[in-house]
Amino acid sequence: MRFERGRRHTVRFTLNGKAVEGEAEPRMLLVDFLRHGLGFTGTHVGCEHGVCGACTIQIDGAPARACLTYALQVEGQELRTVEGLAGQDGALSPLQAAFRRHHALQCGFCTPGILMTMDAWLAENPNPTEAAVREALSGTICRCTGYTQIVAAVMDVARQGDADA
Ligand code: FES
Ligand code: FES
Repeated sequence: MRFERGRRHTVRFTLNGKAVEGEAEPRMLLVDFLRHGLGFTGTHVGCEHGVCGACTIQIDGAPARACLTYALQVEGQELRTVEGLAGQDGALSPLQAAFRRHHALQCGFCTPGILMTMDAWLAENPNPTEAAVREALSGTICRCTGYTQIVAAVMDVARQGDADA
């Protein structure tokens, strides 16, 4: 498909299990489309350069920076944001519950990105070492916690063997 600058194009994808459709200009970032176009503001915007990890969502099950992805690129794909982590009844996912138990957030700005990153990572790495968890977290910046409680929460979920993932 050829995208014309300034012209809006239709994009369709699945978001947290539901089909969505919207219109976006070719250079509209996915994170802006999610937040301003669809009202899913749980995904945060920090650096807008792929560095901080605050905008991380899952695309087809893999973590992805929504600030480095154009909205029109996700045609036909399955997206999951932090709003899709809890169950239908509102019950927190195992990782969310562990974050609460371990006080793994302070301001919460980094939290959606870290949850989406580590939720996907735990699905691939169900029995991690603490060093591996720290390595996996290294692409996501938290200014508040010092990471200790975040690592404890992730290790707790891994020990329980119920990564939502
Ligand atoms: S806002 Fe996307 S990585 Fe920082
Ligand atoms: S809890 Fe504030 S940036 Fe992580």
